[in-house]
Amino acid sequence: MNAMLDRDFGTPPSTSETRVSVEIDGMRIEVPAGTSVMRAAAEAGVSIPKLCATDTLEAFGSCRLCLVEIDGRAGTPASCTTPVAEGMRIHTQTNKLKSLRRGVMELYISDHPLDCLTCSANGDCELQDMAGAVGLREVRYGFDGANHLSAPKDESNPYFTFDASKCIVCSRCVRACDEVQGTLALTVSGRGFESKIAASAEESFLDSECVSCGACVKACPTATLTEKTVIEIGQPERSVLTTCAYCGVGCSFKAQVRGNEVVRMVPHDDGKANRGHSCVKGRFAWGYATHPDRVLTPLVRERIDQPWREASWEEAVGRIASEFRRIQTQYGKDSVGAVTSSRCTNEETFLVQKMVRAVFGNNNVDTCARVCHSPTGYGLKQTFGTSAGTQDFDSVMQADVMVVIGANPTDGHPVFASRMKRRLRQGAKLIVIDPRRIDLVRTPHIEASHHLQLRPGTNVAIINALAHVIVTEGLVNEAFVRERCDLPEFSSWAQFVAEARNSPEATESITGVPAATVRAAARLYATGGNGAIYYGLGVTEHSQGTTMVMGIANVAMATGNIGRPGVGVNPLRGQNNVQGSCDMGSFPHEFAGYRHVSDEAARELFEDIWGVPLASEPGLRIPNMFDAALDGSFKGMFIQGEDFAQSDPDTQHVVAGLSAMECVVVHDLFLNETAKYAHVFLPGASFLEKDGTFTNAERRISRVRKVMPPRAGLADWQAVMAVCQALGYPMQYEHPSQIMDEIARTTPSFTGVSYAKLNELGSIQWPCNDKAPTGTPVMHSAGFVRGKGRFIVTEYVPTEERSTARFPLLLTTGRILSQYNVGTQTRRTANSQWHEQDLLEIHPHDAEQRGIRDGDRVRVASRTGATELRAEITDRVAPGVVYTTFHHPDTHINVVTTDFSDWATNCPEYKVTAVQVLPSNGTAAARS
Ligand code: SF4
Ligand code: SF4
Ligand code: SF4
Ligand code: FES
Repeated sequence: MNAMLDRDFGTPPSTSETRVSVEIDGMRIEVPAGTSVMRAAAEAGVSIPKLCATDTLEAFGSCRLCLVEIDGRAGTPASCTTPVAEGMRIHTQTNKLKSLRRGVMELYISDHPLDCLTCSANGDCELQDMAGAVGLREVRYGFDGANHLSAPKDESNPYFTFDASKCIVCSRCVRACDEVQGTLALTVSGRGFESKIAASAEESFLDSECVSCGACVKACPTATLTEKTVIEIGQPERSVLTTCAYCGVGCSFKAQVRGNEVVRMVPHDDGKANRGHSCVKGRFAWGYATHPDRVLTPLVRERIDQPWREASWEEAVGRIASEFRRIQTQYGKDSVGAVTSSRCTNEETFLVQKMVRAVFGNNNVDTCARVCHSPTGYGLKQTFGTSAGTQDFDSVMQADVMVVIGANPTDGHPVFASRMKRRLRQGAKLIVIDPRRIDLVRTPHIEASHHLQLRPGTNVAIINALAHVIVTEGLVNEAFVRERCDLPEFSSWAQFVAEARNSPEATESITGVPAATVRAAARLYATGGNGAIYYGLGVTEHSQGTTMVMGIANVAMATGNIGRPGVGVNPLRGQNNVQGSCDMGSFPHEFAGYRHVSDEAARELFEDIWGVPLASEPGLRIPNMFDAALDGSFKGMFIQGEDFAQSDPDTQHVVAGLSAMECVVVHDLFLNETAKYAHVFLPGASFLEKDGTFTNAERRISRVRKVMPPRAGLADWQAVMAVCQALGYPMQYEHPSQIMDEIARTTPSFTGVSYAKLNELGSIQWPCNDKAPTGTPVMHSAGFVRGKGRFIVTEYVPTEERSTARFPLLLTTGRILSQYNVGTQTRRTANSQWHEQDLLEIHPHDAEQRGIRDGDRVRVASRTGATELRAEITDRVAPGVVYTTFHHPDTHINVVTTDFSDWATNCPEYKVTAVQVLPSNGTAAARS
């Protein structure tokens, strides 16, 4: 067996608590009832030959290679589909079985190309292994009969090939697509000798419904489905366990490497966030790391209108240090700051905020979570006492009712979406609250019970209406509330939501959602068993983002849906380490572990370890840094892994702020839009080039391990360390594990975390400390972190951004599966094939009124700016609403978005912009 692959037990484990004792080839073993004979044998160390079985899929019993003999039973049953029974005596290696298995293999091999030595899967092929395992020495049928040896190849997918001549029609790919991914793109068409694998309606893989998750490729036991990189580079030589650097699911991967070249990324079966699954980004879109656009040398220039000049690390770092010190001497200590990256590791983020607090001497540090999930941090801290989601991903398998609010998991969090779909296919119910008909609303074998297609900007009105039904129809879990929550606050909240103005009937004209639908959804959530809420940026990126997070927490507490598996409040966090960057003290008012900078005990702890006095006043948030730059009081900014000029709202303001500074440092992989305004560019290291940890949406800390040396010479933590040293502050970590040790010494929820423990356990969900030495999968189980859960009155305040006669449509934005954020990485991979441009979705009615046809270029104008893109006419959006993605810089959609933001956290209101859309007759720039 290929040592780089996870061990395969043939069939999934049984969850039964009853133990059954059986004898296999004379060895006694106890296994859970329901375990297959094949798995029991594997656990006893006996490998039974197999082809159609693999432990990530339900047993199918088609290849007949895994036959066994069982005392007292006639025939030779397939071990993969036969469950163990108490006292069973099983024989796996009799002469009869050997002969039968050889016969089966002979048939397979007689219709298989004999090109093992030149086959890309040579050494990693289960058919080859099984031919050896059954002792195949001859093929009596010869190779001249009818066969499939000239069956065509499908090379359409950019990442993998389908070579039908090698297919043994074991249907592992079909089952992987059904069971693991849930897309159901593959079938076995035809019968008997004519059977073959078909994608959708016998289309090419690229044209089919396939979403390129790679589950079929991983499941295929032959070279039929093979990664193109394996064909090009050859079989890998070593494997490094690491974590995907794209989204907040945090999938665990084996980076399989040849020399210093990644051959493929294989999702890790023991990865607790992904359980062996992946999406197209983590699985295939890692080629950006070696893209020729990577900048591998530091760059400097005096002024931003000058061309870049290459520099040594010493010169670039020296320039930063001298400029920042000059600026601080000239304009004051608070005239510089930094922004941490949610793409970088916890250790790197910790160092950047340490640089600001200990070396710059102020608290001017912020992070891109400001523009995505800062309302989650604030809202959940106020209600529950901690700034993070409550569950692990596994918990969804015990949910009876899922509520998905302002999130599009199949595109944004695809691997978790596959878990959700699996649970929904098992019968769990689904409520979707979203202005757009996301895929989950109706997808193969799944249909949401209710889709509350609300008007953008009316989330709080909807959550109040749901709460109204829960309170006025007697659906409150009174025992939970009495025992676990602050009662005076509950009473005020219950009185508030019970007011007639919050009823579904009264709010219908605000939200556009029929009252009966709201009532039915509320009843289902409150009474349907375990209710779990999952939400995304459609909740947070609003002027009432924090209010909505609190509203969600309120209804979860009111219904007792907190504190056990299957329930909870779960933000689906966008970036790979956005949870971690918040945990690590990236906000201007909080140290690592969410302790306010005015908290003397916390400050003294850091002062003691860092050896310098620390400021007790909160620093500037990102938007305030730009305001201060325009006022002339903020002059230097260190920006790690963040592209404001592309991703932040009100681009003109950002650009003006950046242009007003005297030293902007960009630390990144590519010269991005923000780097146009930078004076020093430090080349960053990709996740393949460094050690560290990421923390995913379920608070899971996972190791990132170095696969290749940093291409520019320094990993990001080393570069920041060099800047601190140049600024005169000694910093000498030899490895990121030492930074984690410092995090553990200073951060109460991390005191039990170390690299040694991460290596031992695989991953850890914080809090991990004396009370929870192996971490905390489900939070608030015995009591809320803040003691009692706190209900907060959530008054609906309409956003000031409203549709008007001049701007009659509401624009909202989101992501697509194949692309990631502003596309810096994904656009530098073959993923661009699926999304060459951002499109504006518009309802047929609105399109017709404006004379817009499908594919027309249209001009989207708001009161702040205008841009152009192509229209896609679809009823996914309701009349009055338009939608687009923001993955391509030339779309400039943030030129259109406004400067409204969340009242508590300044998180920008990306999700509601009043716009007009008209057919375009020229360039937007010319007329905006
Ligand atoms: S493509 Fe692979 S997994 Fe699918 S049926 Fe053929 S051999 Fe089996
Ligand atoms: S790549 Fe994924 S979606 Fe496509 S056919 Fe294979 S399993 Fe299905
Ligand atoms: S779901 Fe997210 S973490 Fe997992 S492979 Fe895809 S992008 Fe990576
Ligand atoms: S492995 Fe059991 S029948 Fe194929």
